[in-house]
Amino acid sequence: MKNSKILGTGASLPEKIVTNFDFEKKIETTNQWIVERTGIEQRHIANNSETATKLGASAALKALQAAGLSVTDIDMLIVATATPDKVFPSTACLIQEELDIPAIAAFDITAACGGFVYGLSIADQFIKTGHKQNVLIIGVEVLSRLADWTDRGTCILFADGAGAVVLGPTEEQGILSTHIYADGRYKDLLFCDNPLATPDSDNNFIRMRGNEVFKIAVKTLSNIVDEALKHNHIDKSEIDWLVPHQANIRIIQATAKKLGMSMEQVVLTVAKHGNTSSASVPLALDEAIRDGRIKRGQLILLEAFGGGFTWGSALIRY
Ligand code: UT7
Repeated sequence: MKNSKILGTGASLPEKIVTNFDFEKKIETTNQWIVERTGIEQRHIANNSETATKLGASAALKALQAAGLSVTDIDMLIVATATPDKVFPSTACLIQEELDIPAIAAFDITAACGGFVYGLSIADQFIKTGHKQNVLIIGVEVLSRLADWTDRGTCILFADGAGAVVLGPTEEQGILSTHIYADGRYKDLLFCDNPLATPDSDNNFIRMRGNEVFKIAVKTLSNIVDEALKHNHIDKSEIDWLVPHQANIRIIQATAKKLGMSMEQVVLTVAKHGNTSSASVPLALDEAIRDGRIKRGQLILLEAFGGGFTWGSALIRY
């Protein structure tokens, strides 16, 4: 069995930036509350032409470039998104067409904020078993399209963007293990009804019982990082970087504390990007790889938690 390793990463963000001060003018909130309770200072919001397809394709191209590969080298395309441009074809098919990728396996997965780690896990299995060579995994969201702009408990949190990773085979170490889970019993704590199925629902926007989600996220993430370490017989002191889902700075601080890591070893983008769901981990990963913080050979831990609930982690020798 081969291992899979990260060959390249890419990112794409909408041009428009909305700050907390912009929200102050529209809803009953303050910059201070948002910064203190979430760590978010600004977020990128897509215009009508910045679709999931366009953002995802742009991030994918940059990841391919970084990997030194062309579109014909890719033999599987996985898109994690809760905000596809169409019910079908999948966003993966639309990105495939946009990038002119010949016939390959291409599909979307819906696992909300856990989606990118799910995608990474699926790709890793295909590469390890030799069924696929180079797999493109994209996390992309245009969550602003699902925002209730009158609900101050959610509209200040969620935002848009795309991150992409190319995974390929290696004889050396790469992805050491992935761990993915879901528990549908929590479906009512964080959800968005489908307007096609329930056109009269009051909940055709993102709905969240934030405080309850917060508490379960902290507990669950702490368990899953433990599991990743135990599985690989690795001590927490060996981890170089934590690349967490960027939902809330306080959740991230709790996970870092549990790992005994200083915040200097945590890749943080929540202040600039807000919560971009399945795009948040690959966006953060790309930033820290491109600015040289994450170096080849280092040990990195990825984790995510979101609607479903879904959650997961990946321990990676970069
Ligand atoms: O990515 C998927 C996973 N998602 C998460 O992990 C998110 C988890 N949850 C959170 O990040 C936090 O729960 C929030 C940031 C959403 C909320 O923070 P909180 O400290 O849990 O606040 P809360 O919901 O308990 O609300 C406290 C107060 C309430 O007012 P009262 O009832 O005490 O008078 C809210 O109405 O804060 C109020 N509030 C706000 N005030 C100013 C809620 N949103 C705002 C706001 N500005 N934007």
